[in-house]
Amino acid sequence: MADWNAQTYDERHSWVWKRGEGVVELLAPRKGERILDLGCGTAHLTARIAASGAEVLGLDASPAMIGKAKAEHPGLDLRVADGRDFRLEAPVDAVFSNAALHWMQPPGAVAACVARALKPGGRFVAEMGGKGNLRTLLEGVRAAILAAGVEAPRVEDDLYFPSAAEYGSLLEAHGFELRQAVLFERPTPLEGGEAGLRAWVHQFGMHLFRVVPEAQRDAVMDDITKRLRPKLWDGAQWVADYRRLRFVAVRTP
Ligand code: BEZ
Repeated sequence: MADWNAQTYDERHSWVWKRGEGVVELLAPRKGERILDLGCGTAHLTARIAASGAEVLGLDASPAMIGKAKAEHPGLDLRVADGRDFRLEAPVDAVFSNAALHWMQPPGAVAACVARALKPGGRFVAEMGGKGNLRTLLEGVRAAILAAGVEAPRVEDDLYFPSAAEYGSLLEAHGFELRQAVLFERPTPLEGGEAGLRAWVHQFGMHLFRVVPEAQRDAVMDDITKRLRPKLWDGAQWVADYRRLRFVAVRTP
């Protein structure tokens, strides 16, 4: 996938990390712990975790995200790494992740790396897109692309949105005990008023939209807006149909 635009990610989509603050509370980081933030993005939550006195390492596959994160948080240990293929020098007490695991496939490779990164008894606390996440929004984008005569990739080619049962089984198969898992709807207002849906597609839907030739993009975007207005426009703002899977698992000794 092409690299992210870290600038617009922070400027127009700050709810991604703001909505993840509850996951930091669930993690309950303690002074002296070593914690990995997997898929740390621009590292706002990594900094929150560090403020607890824990020693944090942030990893992200995007050089643009890590570049911006390092410029803003020079005191943090932040590195470019692939969540499906990384190895730490020493095991950590906890692995944390917000809004990132759904981009990493195959999920078994990620679970294996996380298990290897954790001390026995260490915890894996995360939130990701869950089953049915953004179904309406992504189907609207895909339908408009297909209607323009362009072959659109399937959503699941790039994104993984498991049910609680499916992800729990995957974790158990990789040496974790699942302590809690909840799948919940989280309708999310998009920043930017009328322009919010376009901004979202440009930031997060590019894996679908990139196949549309430049000359057709405005027309396809108009069609996306038309298709989705009856479903996702509440009269004042666009509200995306997010569904989250939040879980706590412990690595078995
Ligand atoms: C999310 O659930 O955070 C997400 C999924 C796909 C695209 C953008 C965001």
